[in-house]
Amino acid sequence: MSANDVNKSGTVAWQSPSNIALIKYWGKKGFQIPANPSLSITLSSSYSETKIEYKPGAGLVDFYFEEQKNPVFAKKIQAYFEKIKHELHFLTNLDFTIHSQNTFPHSAGIASSASAMSALALCLCSIEQEISENQKIANVDFYSRASYFARIGSGSAARSVYGKLSSWGTSALIPESSDLYATPFQLPIHKVFENFNDTILIVSKGEKKVSSRAGHGLMDGNPFAPARYMQASHNMGKLIMAIETGDLKAFIAIVESEALTLHGMMMASSPGYILMEPNTLEIIKKIQAFREQSGVNLCFTLDAGANVHVLYPGIEGKSVLGFIKNELLDYCEDKKMISDKMGDGPKRIS
Ligand code: PMV
Repeated sequence: MSANDVNKSGTVAWQSPSNIALIKYWGKKGFQIPANPSLSITLSSSYSETKIEYKPGAGLVDFYFEEQKNPVFAKKIQAYFEKIKHELHFLTNLDFTIHSQNTFPHSAGIASSASAMSALALCLCSIEQEISENQKIANVDFYSRASYFARIGSGSAARSVYGKLSSWGTSALIPESSDLYATPFQLPIHKVFENFNDTILIVSKGEKKVSSRAGHGLMDGNPFAPARYMQASHNMGKLIMAIETGDLKAFIAIVESEALTLHGMMMASSPGYILMEPNTLEIIKKIQAFREQSGVNLCFTLDAGANVHVLYPGIEGKSVLGFIKNELLDYCEDKKMISDKMGDGPKRIS
C-alpha cells in the first residue's frame, strides 16, 4: 500500500453480520491459522453496526458500546490495533472514536465476535482507502484484506465479510482458499440452499463458560485433535457434494456431526468442559424425533455454547416454525428465539 495521508479526518461505518459454521473451526496451528478449513452461513438480521470517526492523533481509542463509554472494550481494541499496526501504519498516527452496537441483545448468548470484528476490520480498510494516495483498491482485494484483519481479531470473523456461504482455511477442494483470509464459496450451490433459515433458540443467556481463545488452546493437548482435523477436511468434501446436489439427508448428517464433535472435543479436553445445558439435549432429541416422524428436513448446529441453531430450507418454514413454537420454546430462557436466515453480507453505511 502506498503512503497514507494522516492529516485527514473522516467517518466510516459498516454493518456486518454474524455467521454460523457448518464445518467448525476449532483449534489453531500458530498465530490465528486454522487447524482445518471451515465453512459457514452468513446471517442476515444478527449484525453489528460500527462507526469510526478518525482524526490526526497518536493512536488513542475511545469506544462506546450501545452508546455507553466502554473502557474495557477500548483496551481490547487497542491491544488488537497493536497486533496489526505494522501493517496499518495509520493506527499510530490517528485517534479513533468508535461507536458499536448489535441488533441482537448483548446478553442473548450469541457469539458477537464474528460480527463485531468483521465490522471493525471493514471500517479500518475503508479508512485505509480514504487516506491512501492510491485510492484504487480493487473490490476483491478490499474484502480479502478486510477478512485478513478480521481473522486476526477473531478467526470466525474472517468468514463474515462475505454473504451466503463463506469458507476459511486452505483446502484442496476449494479453489483460492487460504489460511490467511476467507473467500466467498464459489462452488455450485443447489437451489434448495439458496433460501436457508436459521432460528436461534436461546437456551441460556449467560456468559460463555470458556473463552474461544482458551477453547482453541485446549485442542493442543487433546489426544483426539489430529483425528478431528482429518475428519473436518473429510466432512468438508462430503458437504461440498451435498450442497451441489441438494442432498439434504447428507447435509443434515454432516452438520449435526460437526456440532456434536465440537462439543465432544471440549468434553475430551483437559480440563473438560460441558457447554450444553440439559435443555440443549432436550431440544436436540426433539428435533431428531420430529424429523424422523414428519420427514421435514431440519437439523441443528451449535456454537461453543448451549444455544441451538435450527437450520432448514425456506420451503420448510411453516412446519418448522409451528414445531418450534409448540415444542421447543418452553426449553428456551424466557421463551427467547431469534429468527434469522442466510444473508447477503456486510454493507457500508453512511
Ligand atoms: O472466532 P473464534 O476464535 O471465536 O472461534 C469460534 C469457533 C466456533 O464458533 C466454535 C466455530 C466456528 O467455526 O465459527
